[in-house]
Amino acid sequence: MGIDVWLPRDAAGAEASAAVESPGGMDWTELRECVTHCTRCELAKSRTNTVFGVGSPNADWLIIGEAPGAEEDRRGEPFVGRAGTLLDEMLRAIGQSRDSVFIANILKCRPPNNRDPKPEEAAACRQYLERQIELVQPKIILAVGKIAAQNLLGSGETVGRMRGRPHDFGGIPLVVTYHPAYLLRSPSQKAKSWSDLCLATRLAAEYDA
Ligand code: URA
Repeated sequence: MGIDVWLPRDAAGAEASAAVESPGGMDWTELRECVTHCTRCELAKSRTNTVFGVGSPNADWLIIGEAPGAEEDRRGEPFVGRAGTLLDEMLRAIGQSRDSVFIANILKCRPPNNRDPKPEEAAACRQYLERQIELVQPKIILAVGKIAAQNLLGSGETVGRMRGRPHDFGGIPLVVTYHPAYLLRSPSQKAKSWSDLCLATRLAAEYDA
């Protein structure tokens, strides 16, 4: 009719990006592709690679960490540094491996200088993680470290207060434990982490029963 309809810039932008990027209902291939090209937050500008996650798409165990570090950003894989080696050892101790579990992070992109994720970055990334959880359908979620636990549980508590007891994430049992990078600095806490892994093993078995 020759009449232009103007939308406020923000509303138009939000509509467009929601239509393009909403991950609900995506399969693994679509989700991975969407993450690879994501520009939802500022971290898209400084990343080398997105870090989608690694492991079995049908894993019983879903391990969730904080965010990629420098080496993860370079290689596009989570937990590949010294903390990753310790995580591998922790998995071996419970009869699991990097291939049998699925490992993901709260953020898919590296925060510069390994600073903590900003709330808006975690919020922008949240739907990707939620879709991963829906697709994996794990029997147990292991949140490693404060950032993962606080984001998943919507809590402000310390790991010390959240660990050692069962939590729930949308009907899936969730256990909090120390981040392997922290355990490298404080090896005396490894015994507590071992007891968290034992608790998680029990909960995963009960989830079946
Ligand atoms: N720390 C994390 O929390 N995630 C990684 O992928 C690497 C280190």
